[in-house]
Amino acid sequence: MKVLIVYDSVSPSKVTRMVAENIAEGLKEKGVEVDSVFVADADKAAVKNYDCLFVGAPTMAFRATGAIMQFLNDLPAAELSGKPAAAFDTQVKSRFSGNAAKGIDGKLRSLGFKMVAAPLTAFVDGKMKTNEWSLREGESEKTKQWALELAQALAKYNLSRHAEDAKRKRRHSREQQALKAQTSRGAL
Ligand SMILES: Cc1cc2nc3c(=O)[nH]c(=O)nc-3n(C[C@H](O)[C@H](O)[C@H](O)COP(=O)(O)O)c2cc1C
Repeated sequence: MKVLIVYDSVSPSKVTRMVAENIAEGLKEKGVEVDSVFVADADKAAVKNYDCLFVGAPTMAFRATGAIMQFLNDLPAAELSGKPAAAFDTQVKSRFSGNAAKGIDGKLRSLGFKMVAAPLTAFVDGKMKTNEWSLREGESEKTKQWALELAQALAKYNLSRHAEDAKRKRRHSREQQALKAQTSRGAL
């Protein structure tokens, strides 16, 4: 299973990039192959070469950044429908924060992706004035934990996909045998 993480990160502190790196590290520890790419460097046509897509952005003006939404809008939905996906964001802990991850999650769903986990929010502390941000205490561990949940969800998804494949193959082989039997009896 090959996973692509696409993230945006705007401030000089690059907190969302750190979250993406944490997720990539957690997945790799579980043996998952991962590429993590900054949104400006992401190749939309290459997404189909991956089994799974995780997308994250900082929350700015209550929603995901324009760059990440543009990336999602430009994806070739028909080629990607049914692939597993999940969304994450960073945001300030406040009732008035908005939520980038929810918007990303909704967009991924509307493109036909199959969400394998609830969106992750990693809370940040910082100041608008200096634009310096850091993950709140405990949030780094939370992102690692989310990565482990993702790895489990992907393993389960893989198992059910293999079971489906095996079922399809068995059905096909039964049909072939029935056809052969009918042919040899001269029924066809
Ligand atoms: C112009 C601006 C607008 C922001 N708007 C929001 C917001 O609406 N809600 C929120 O929770 N955080 C907001 N933030 C804080 C960002 O979420 C924070 O800068 C971000 O998590 C840092 O991630 P990054 O280092 O990856 O860019 C804003 C920050 C800036 C500079």
